[in-house]
Formats: sequence, structure tokens, C-alpha cells
Amino acid sequence: MKTIEDLLAGDVHGKTVLVRSDLNVPLDDERNITDDGRVRASVPTIKALSDAGAKVVVVAHLGRPKGAPEEKYSLTPVVSRLSELLGKDVAFAKDTVGESAKSVVAGLQDGDVALLENLRFNPGETSKDEKERGDFADQLAAFADAFVSDGFGVVHRKQASVYDVATRLPHYAGGLVGTEVEVLQRLTQNPERPYAVVLGGAKVADKLAVIENLMQTADRLLIGGGMAYTFLKAQGHEVGKSLLDEEKVDTCKKFLEDAKAKGVEIVLPIDTVVAPEFSADVDTLVVDSDEIPADMMGLDIGPKSRELFATKLRDCRTVFWNGPMGAFEMAPYAYGTEAVAQVLADITKEGALTVVGGGDSAAAVRQLGFADDQFGHISTGGGASLEYLEGKTLPGIEILDA
Ligand code: 3PG
Repeated sequence: MKTIEDLLAGDVHGKTVLVRSDLNVPLDDERNITDDGRVRASVPTIKALSDAGAKVVVVAHLGRPKGAPEEKYSLTPVVSRLSELLGKDVAFAKDTVGESAKSVVAGLQDGDVALLENLRFNPGETSKDEKERGDFADQLAAFADAFVSDGFGVVHRKQASVYDVATRLPHYAGGLVGTEVEVLQRLTQNPERPYAVVLGGAKVADKLAVIENLMQTADRLLIGGGMAYTFLKAQGHEVGKSLLDEEKVDTCKKFLEDAKAKGVEIVLPIDTVVAPEFSADVDTLVVDSDEIPADMMGLDIGPKSRELFATKLRDCRTVFWNGPMGAFEMAPYAYGTEAVAQVLADITKEGALTVVGGGDSAAAVRQLGFADDQFGHISTGGGASLEYLEGKTLPGIEILDA
């Protein structure tokens, strides 16, 4: 796989380089960026190319528009943040491959940077039809002399700007993609032990495949957040009004049996913070996880679980964490997530490799006041890192090898 270092070592001055970044950031109701981690992570590659005198055309998506422009998915909030972080104006094209994009790209001077509007405003970007995707990729490729793939968060998508463009231009892995893959390799190839994986978040269905695969490599699997209730149900406990994926209860039951047979320790919450509804303004209660009242829902792991999870993580040399332990956006339910973040920050200082994966977990640790460098690595890709750990081939990485 050629990397941006190879590109920079050649003569990139005056060349136009198309850079696929992942600038899919969370926005509030006023369209302010609430966590700019992905923008910051994208800057080094863009800056290196601009400093080398390349004309840099950045392409990215935001949210999941359905192939047509929608104001709420415009990349406008991102262009100002990117300009601030780069310390230079970034030209913005109001479309992807139309008149605006053509004129913005044609007007670039050596070292200039442009951002094109949300790629997913064009149906070709995410089309399942090879021809439609290919046509869009042709138009994007026509802008540039080379392609740098740096949007790690999207490398699991076989999309025009991630996959097809690489078949049309000399292609290179950007620094962010390089770093992310290197860290994930450390998790899969001979991780230092004990190796624990902490999984949380709402959807158990999204994480079943990764759980299955992690049972081959991890020593401990700690499960919190909304997905824990399906496991608690699989253990035969009632979970009241908590999140539950009835269809997956049997699968979770099987995982619990398999884990036992394989000697993998599965750690579930032993107590739970419950409330009558999903709100910060109601009285909460802590109950044992096998005694969740029928009219209550679990919204965070309880204090005994925080202690248990911390104990199970404190001696680990490698930890991968994906998904918050509770509804951390509301202060009363952030303690579980904070406890996991704290123990990870502590063991990082002692030399353990800690990896925080996924937009929600990354946003959670920052919102709770932790700095990025308190962890070994904060991945910009939730879905992408999980698919890598599932053992799947990631199209956007595979194509860079071709
Ligand atoms: C993400 O947010 O995980 C990436 O930006 C990919 O977005 P997607 O899941 O909408 O493809």
C-alpha cells in the first residue's frame, strides 16, 4: 500500500490531490459542531499536502441524505472549522461535481485547499449500482492527479469517493488511515494480555458479529449500556422498560454459553441506575440488575458495577472500548461512562494500550472533560473499527492495496 509519504516524496507541488476525509461531525439544533474530533484528525494530511504546494480538494459526507441536497446536511459548518484549524481560508463549492465545484477547483492556486459540498447529495456516491457509482467517481477523479484516502470512519463503505475513485487515480493511504489501521493491527495481532473489550451503546444487534469474533482474542468482555439488558434477559432476568432486543435474546444466551466454554470472562452490570422514563428530571434509583422493576428502565450501570468494571480493567495491558455505559448525554446517567474512561486514562499512564472507538464514545470522553492524549488512541471510526475487529475486509482499505 502506498502512503502519503510516498506521494510527498515525489513531486506533488502544483498537482491537484483529491482527499477523502471523514468530516461527519455531530451538530446541535443551531448546526454548531458539538465534537470537532474528526475535523481535527483530518487536518494533518490536508496540511501536509497544502504545505507541499499541492492543490487540495477535500471531499466528505455529513449524515445520511438520500442522494439530493438538503440544507440540514450541508457541510457549511465544517468549512469554517476546517479553515480555523488549518489557519487558512478553505474555498467551498456549493455542489459536488457541478458548476460550483468545477469553478472552485479551477481557481485553486498551489497550496490552496477547497472543500466540496456533501458527497451524499449526489446519488452516485452511495449507489449500489456499479455504473452509477463509477460515473460519479469518474467526475470526482477528473478533478485530480492523485487520490489520498484519509476518511477512516468510512473505509467500510464501498462508495464512490472511498472505493471507486481509487481505481481511477494513483492512490495513497493518508496518515489517519495509516495510524488507525496500525492500532487495530495491534489489537488483533498478539495483543498484550490481559486484553479486555468494553462494549456499550444501544444496539446489541450491531455488535453481535464483533462479540463473536472477539471471543477468539479477548480475555474479558465487559458489556454495559443499552445492549446489556438483552444479555441480562438472556440470563433470565426481567429488565422492565429497559432497551431490549427480544429477537437477539437467544443469540446472547448462546454467546454466554460459548464464552464459558472458551474461558472468556463476560462481565455484565450487577446493579443499574433506573428511572421511570428517559429524562434527567426524574427521581432515579439504584437496584440490583436482577431486580429491575417492571415500570422502570435502566439508564446507566450502578456504583457496584462501576467498581466491578474498574477492577476488571485495572490490570489490563490492552483495552478496546466502544459504546457508552449509559445515557451519558444526561448528567445523572454519565457516571458509568466516566468511570470506564477514568480507569482507561489511569492504565494508559501505566503503559497499557487503550483504544476508544466510535463517535459516541469519543464524544462522551471529551464531553466528560478527558483530553485525547489521556488514551492510547481515539479512533475516528466506530463502524469501521468494529468491522475490522469482526475480521471483515474493508473495501476502502483493500482497494488501496490494489
Ligand atoms: C460514521 O459516522 O461512522 C462514518 O462517518 C460513516 O457514516 P455512515 O455510517 O453514515 O456511512
